[in-house]
Amino acid sequence: MAKGFNVLFVTSEVFPYSKTGGLADVSNSLPQALNSLGNDVRIISPKYGQLDERRLQIHEIKRLKELKIDVNGKDAKFSIKSSFIHGKNTKAQMYLLESNDYFKNKGIYQNSKTKKDFSNNDERYLFFCKAVIEILEILQWKPDVIHCNDWQTGLIPAFIKTIYKNNPYLNDIKTVFTIHNLAYQGNFPKTSFEKTGMPDSVLTEKGGLHFGQFSYLKTGLNYADKISTVSQKYSEEIRTNKEYGCGLEDVLNGRKKDIMGILNGIDYSIWNPTVDKLIPYRYTYQEVPLKYENKRELLEKYKIEYDEDIPLIGVISRLVDQKGFDLIEKIIPQLMKEDVKLIILGIGEEKYHKFLKKIEKKYSSKLAVHIGFDEELAHHIEAASDMFLMPSKYEPCGLNQMYSLKYGTVPIVRNTGGLSDTIIDYRKPKGNGFLFDKYDPNDLMKAIKSALVLFKDKNKWNKLVREGMSLDFSWKVSAQKYMKLYKEVSSK
Ligand code: ADP
Ligand code: GLC
Repeated sequence: MAKGFNVLFVTSEVFPYSKTGGLADVSNSLPQALNSLGNDVRIISPKYGQLDERRLQIHEIKRLKELKIDVNGKDAKFSIKSSFIHGKNTKAQMYLLESNDYFKNKGIYQNSKTKKDFSNNDERYLFFCKAVIEILEILQWKPDVIHCNDWQTGLIPAFIKTIYKNNPYLNDIKTVFTIHNLAYQGNFPKTSFEKTGMPDSVLTEKGGLHFGQFSYLKTGLNYADKISTVSQKYSEEIRTNKEYGCGLEDVLNGRKKDIMGILNGIDYSIWNPTVDKLIPYRYTYQEVPLKYENKRELLEKYKIEYDEDIPLIGVISRLVDQKGFDLIEKIIPQLMKEDVKLIILGIGEEKYHKFLKKIEKKYSSKLAVHIGFDEELAHHIEAASDMFLMPSKYEPCGLNQMYSLKYGTVPIVRNTGGLSDTIIDYRKPKGNGFLFDKYDPNDLMKAIKSALVLFKDKNKWNKLVREGMSLDFSWKVSAQKYMKLYKEVSSK
């Protein structure tokens, strides 16, 4: 085996400390998978105000207390605390950056009280990026690679190549930047750039200047040594299709040889009906009927009549345009005429909250809605549903369709991004789900109807269920690919 790498994995969310979506799951499971291959991957993330130190076993590190750095001419004080992420036979060191100046309030990107984005998100993540670099010497552990994720970490590669370029401890550290979602760019007014202390050359088209704004994401893409995205298909879509490229097609095409698409893996010690502690009835491949006990219990909880023969469709999602809720909105009247039950768990934009509350009232006998973020309910829905709906407009990878497969919950998805790379049409050999191509309500409805028809044929349906359950989307293959990327970047 190649010699392992020291990698600092920098991320704005990590399960179980902080989570709004799939980035948190990946930030938990990928470092552990890499460690089991002989690397030393450590994670660093902000310690947001809501984190409970006792429950999450977060401890002080004496020599990393009461540190300070300069941010925009002010002293920013912080400490680094320690915790560990554990799997069955794996673990990863977790560093949490605590700062009363920037991460005291409850909320990740939005203030939990006001439900609005923090007005100083530019400075919160500028501080985060700078602190991550400045602690390295004090840490006395030097990474070969800093692995950045999404716009919140985008300034790190540029810092290393500009203001720290003459620092002998830092200037040979390489950077990898993973795009989990190109549409979230961290674009701020030009005045935000002045706070960074970087030279003006960074505020150009070849740096972070993006349609007249300063973009953290574009900065990351231009300065990172290598770039990856979370599926092969998405890595092509964002370069070749304007709708997906979000104005960054040219940058991405310019860096084509440095971009690699690596499909996310999933952690089967967490998302697996055989061991899942959050579901009422655990089941194996041989015990699929137990799945129906989960369905019965979930429907009873929402006072919806249980019938094994009427399919339950589950949705678990951030409620944002990306996830195809405008399509769902359009098909609801037609869908509710079918023999079907629907459960939706999500939180996000107010317009979708309103829509969901409205349909919940109107169709209460066959439709349940839970607005909020609820990890336990997410697991229960995966285990209880017969089908899982994900009609995304775009999807860099998507984890829920892979979770669904393992739970024997057949995915109905749009043929895009990571959904294309994981779901195969049910009519094809090794088929595992239902796909539709065009972002169109009629096409979505057609795909659902095909699923409803096949559901009636128990033999065929069970075959489809079992095909999905037998698949392996663990990190085995993908973690090796990240190692290849680290090797390329550090030419070790
Ligand atoms: P994205 O990262 O775009 O939101 P993914 O499919 O990659 O999409 O990952 C979503 C993750 O977030 C999954 O673990 C899913 O279960 C979880 N999730 C999304 N919304 C909720 C919610 N309202 N409550 C609990 N978990 C949620
Ligand atoms: C993003 C994407 C999602 C992906 C996740 C983890 O949130 O929207 O498709 O699975 O990141 O990489």
